[in-house]
Amino acid sequence: MCGIFGYIGKGKNVPQLVLAGLKSLEYRGYDSWGIASLDKQGRIRIKKKTGKIGENNVETLPDNGMALGHTRWATHGGVTVANAHPHLDCSGKITVIHNGIIENYLELKKPLIKKGHIFRSETDTEVAVHLIEDILADHKKNSVKTVKEDFAESVRLAFKKMSGLNAIIVMEAGSQVFVAAKNGSPLTIGRGTVQNEENLLASDAHAILPFTRDLYFMEDDEVVTVGRKEITVRKLADGTKKQIKFQQVNWQIREEVKGKFTHFMLKEIYDQIKVLQSVASADKVELSKLAALIAKSYGTYMIGCGTAAYACLAGTYIFSKIAKKHVNFSIASEFGYLLDFLTKQSLVIGLSQSGETIDLLDSLKKAKEKGATIVALVNVLGSSLYRLSDHKLLLQAGSEKAVVSTKAFTAKLAYLMMLAYILAGKAELGKNYLLKAVQAVEAILKSDFQQKIINLAQKLASRQHIYLIGRGISYPIALESALKIKEASYIHAEGFAGGELKHGVIALIEKNTPCIGFLPNDESYNDTLSGLMEMKSRGGMIIGVSFRHHEIFDEYLPVSDCGIASAIPNAVAGQLLGYYLTVQKGVDPDKPRNLAKSVTVK
Ligand code: G6P
Repeated sequence: MCGIFGYIGKGKNVPQLVLAGLKSLEYRGYDSWGIASLDKQGRIRIKKKTGKIGENNVETLPDNGMALGHTRWATHGGVTVANAHPHLDCSGKITVIHNGIIENYLELKKPLIKKGHIFRSETDTEVAVHLIEDILADHKKNSVKTVKEDFAESVRLAFKKMSGLNAIIVMEAGSQVFVAAKNGSPLTIGRGTVQNEENLLASDAHAILPFTRDLYFMEDDEVVTVGRKEITVRKLADGTKKQIKFQQVNWQIREEVKGKFTHFMLKEIYDQIKVLQSVASADKVELSKLAALIAKSYGTYMIGCGTAAYACLAGTYIFSKIAKKHVNFSIASEFGYLLDFLTKQSLVIGLSQSGETIDLLDSLKKAKEKGATIVALVNVLGSSLYRLSDHKLLLQAGSEKAVVSTKAFTAKLAYLMMLAYILAGKAELGKNYLLKAVQAVEAILKSDFQQKIINLAQKLASRQHIYLIGRGISYPIALESALKIKEASYIHAEGFAGGELKHGVIALIEKNTPCIGFLPNDESYNDTLSGLMEMKSRGGMIIGVSFRHHEIFDEYLPVSDCGIASAIPNAVAGQLLGYYLTVQKGVDPDKPRNLAKSVTVK
C-alpha cells in the first residue's frame, strides 16, 4: 500500500503541490502522511502527521523546487509520527519514502546498528535510508565520480540487498536529483515540460496526469535518476544504462465529486444504475472475442481479492448456469500456491477494481511464466493489471472513491453475465435480464425501500454479530454483503453457504441474532428457507431478501425477480444495509479504519 510522490521543477509552491499529489494517492493508505522538501541552503526539512491529510497544509516547509511525500498504510510499526515517512539517515542528509515490505529488514538492520546507526522508528523502511547512508559513505572514500553518481550507485546497491516487493524514492541534500528503484510495487515517471524543467515520480500515473501525459511505467529491477533536465534509467543488476520509451497517454480522467450525497459510498451505490445500463449496451464484438477465448481455453480460472474474489465466485455459478461452462475460482492470494497445473492452454482472468492488488498481480505473473493467457476485468485504465494482461475488458464503472467497493462489484457481475450469455448464444436474453436488474436496483434506491433499510439499520446497529446465508449465486452475495457490513460498520458479519449452517454455524445462533437470507426465485429458494427456519427455531431474527414475502420473516426486503440477474439488486440491498449501518455507527464509509482502497503489499 502507501502512496509515494516526488516533484522536481519550477512549479509554484512545490511542497503544497506534493501534498495535492498525495491527496490523490490517499486511497492507498491514510494512517499518516509526510513531506520532505529542500530549503535554499540545500537542507532537508520534513513535516509529518498522523491521520488523514484533510485540510492540512505545508506552508511551513521551504520551497526550493524539490520535494517528496508519502501517505502511509502501516505494515511495520504503529501509526505514529516517528513511523510516518519520509525517514532520515543519521546525518539528516538523505531521506527516503517507500511502498512495500523489506522482508529482510532485520537481517540488514543488525550490522547497521553495530556500526553505530541510530534508528528512530520501528519501520522496515528506515533500514533503507541507513543502508544507503552506509554504502554512500564507503563509496565516497575512493570515488572519482560526482556526488550525484555516487548517490545513484549507493541507492542501486542498497536496493539490491533488499528482498520483497518494493519501490523507493530517495533524496540526498547535495545531489539535486531523486534516485528511485522498484521491484514489484508500481512506480511511474512523468516527463514534464521543458519550460518548467520539471519531472515527477509517483506510485500511480493518475497522480502525475495533472502535470504531464508523457509517462514511463518503470519495470521491475530498474533504478532511475530524476533531475530537472535528466531522466536516466539503469539496470538494478549491474548499473548499465537502459534505453526507455515514454508513452503519451490520452486517458480522460473525470474528477468525481460527491454532489448531493453525504458520502462517496452512497453516490457510488446510485451510480450503479448508469453503470449497469452501459454494460447492457456494451460493444458485443469486444465481448464476443473474450467469450470465444473462454470457449477455446482448456481450463479457465477467475481470480481476485476481497470484493473482486466474490465476483469471481459468482462467476462460477453464472458460467455454469448460463453457458454450461466450468470456470474455476480461487482467491488471488491463494492462486500462487495452486497453479502448478497451468499450461499454455490455460486462461486466467484477473478481476480487480484498482488493477494494483499485489496478491493478484503476483499470481498472474506466475501464471504468465507458465504460459497461461491473462485476461483483465479491471476498472482502472493503465493500471498494472491492465498493462500486464494479454486481453483486457475495462469495467468503465467510473472512478470508485469509497474504500468500500460497490459499483465495481455489480459491474463485474454484469459483464460476467453478458459474457456467459454471449457464450451461450443468447446475448439479447442477457441484455433483457440486465435491464430488469436495472429496474430492480432503481426500486431499491427509492425512498420507501431506503427507509426500510434505515429502520433495519437502527435495529441492528447495536448488535455484535450478523449472519447471512445464501445458496447458489446467492452464496457469494451473502459473502459480499457480510463484507460490506463488517468493513464499514465494524460489526462482525459472516456470510455462509446455506448448506453449511448445520455444520457448525448454527451453534452461534441465539435469541434475536440477526440472520439475513437471500432468497431469489431460483432452485435454492426452498433449501435456503429451510435454513432460515432452523435459525428461527433457535431464536434468530429472520430478515428475508426476496421476491416474495414469507411468514417466517421478521423483516422483509422486497427485491423483484430478474432471473439470475437478481444477484445484482440483492447485492445492492446488502450494500445499502452496510452503508446505513455505517452511518448509524458514525463511521466514515469512504475511509474506514485500517483499510486502504488499493492493497499493494502482501
Ligand atoms: C481492498 C479493498 C476492497 C477490494 C480489494 C480488492 O481490500 O478495500 O474493496 O475489493 O482490495 O481490490 P481490487 O482493486 O483488486 O478490486
